[in-house]
Amino acid sequence: MSQRHKLVVGNWKMHGSHAANAELLQGILASRPFAAEAAVCVPFPYLSEVAVTLANSGLAWGAQDCSVHEQGAYTGEVSSVMLAEFGCRYVIVGHSERRAYHGESDQLVADKAKVALARGITPIVCVGETLAQREAGETAAVVKRQLSAVVHALGQCIGEVVVAYEPVWAIGTGRTASPEQAQEVHALLRAQLAAATPRASEMKLLYGGSVKPDNAVTLFGQADIDGGLIGGAALKASDFVAILRAAS
Ligand code: G3P
Repeated sequence: MSQRHKLVVGNWKMHGSHAANAELLQGILASRPFAAEAAVCVPFPYLSEVAVTLANSGLAWGAQDCSVHEQGAYTGEVSSVMLAEFGCRYVIVGHSERRAYHGESDQLVADKAKVALARGITPIVCVGETLAQREAGETAAVVKRQLSAVVHALGQCIGEVVVAYEPVWAIGTGRTASPEQAQEVHALLRAQLAAATPRASEMKLLYGGSVKPDNAVTLFGQADIDGGLIGGAALKASDFVAILRAAS
């Protein structure tokens, strides 16, 4: 079992409302303290209120994407400079939903990670294979290629990112990678990182994909799994808290 401090991040995706967010956050805050580090990555419009609610709470917050540009005529984009103004500690980059629905390339994801880091925001870099890629035996090659772009873009700074392995076939499907399947990929990712930075053993590698209170303990008990990136179960305070407790 690893000695790295666990991290559990809620990815709210495109969910929330003023009322729902307040109820969810109060439910989580009421259950403190947590042994694991906790964060929520929320839709852009809610960053301001979440920053106020979570200030000095011990819970961190962040966003789900950022532009590769810092400012300019990029309608609809939000820069890491802006995210920094709202106290974001994290930003998710390269989530499979953005890769799939917005055509984000490995290089773009790597560049986003770089601009985020430059503004003091820790990128949570997502990698993961589709079901077809897994069935074709391409899992290792796919995640290696995705991570490699980030390693090349960041150089030694790669040690400052969080990596999230999210098999696409396990996202929102109720179908979770087995702890062994997840660990196998995490070990590959850590070995790849170890070839790039002496800090690989300190880096946090999260698993994401249908993490629930009933599978979190086993997943987080794997040697190279340092916590989770949680979608659906992060929208219910009792589930998110149970997952946080599993990450002690
Ligand atoms: O980023 C988290 C995510 O993609 C996993 O979603 O709903 O399967 O936990 P979910």
